[in-house]
Amino acid sequence: MRIDIITCQPGLVDGFLSQSIVKRAIDNKHVEINLHDIKEQGKGKYRQIDDYPFGGGAGMVLMIEPISNIIKILQAERKYDEVIYLTPDGTTLKQGLVNTLSLKQNLILICGHYKGIDERIREKYVTLEISIGDYVLSGGEIAAAVLTDALVRLIPGVLNDETSALTDSFQDNLLAPPVYSRPAEFEGMKVPDVLLSGNEKLINDWRLEKSIERTEKRRPDLLKK
Ligand code: ADE
Repeated sequence: MRIDIITCQPGLVDGFLSQSIVKRAIDNKHVEINLHDIKEQGKGKYRQIDDYPFGGGAGMVLMIEPISNIIKILQAERKYDEVIYLTPDGTTLKQGLVNTLSLKQNLILICGHYKGIDERIREKYVTLEISIGDYVLSGGEIAAAVLTDALVRLIPGVLNDETSALTDSFQDNLLAPPVYSRPAEFEGMKVPDVLLSGNEKLINDWRLEKSIERTEKRRPDLLKK
């Protein structure tokens, strides 16, 4: 998979890419991630990238040309499966969409800032708009990092244990069951006997039961789906 991230704050995303599971995935060539600084396509001596909104109002708008130039350069080099704009008014990100996107080859992520990007970028290039939740961040960078992390961990070989991602919360509309590790007893608190039984069938049944219990209690909306 290749992900091209268009941003006016590459440092924000870079900090994330150089840590975490994503860094290991990049080092092991499971994914290639390129950051494109909008300022490099900025206009004039001062590399202007934003301007006042037509019609007035507070805040600045990221101008059309710098972002359009970057997208044109990228699209001339290869075909992209999706051009994604991270925005609070997009489709709320869920595991199902992450699963679908994790099968794609080439993605462009556009991070907005200030009041957002010129609407014509959305009309001309953007094929998918994603929000990571009903709150407003100062820019799309953290949202792009969230999406990238969720995608990269699904690429085969990225997690040590191939099956690990399949047992995450949300993969089957159920929250994950509780997990325990050593010691088997801590300050009088014991790990459930069944997990020490070695009986795989009993353990799986117990985990499913706890998943359902937890989902009923915390996220009953998931069970209605
Ligand atoms: N940019 C600002 N807020 C955002 C959000 N909630 N999701 C995605 N991108 C954003």
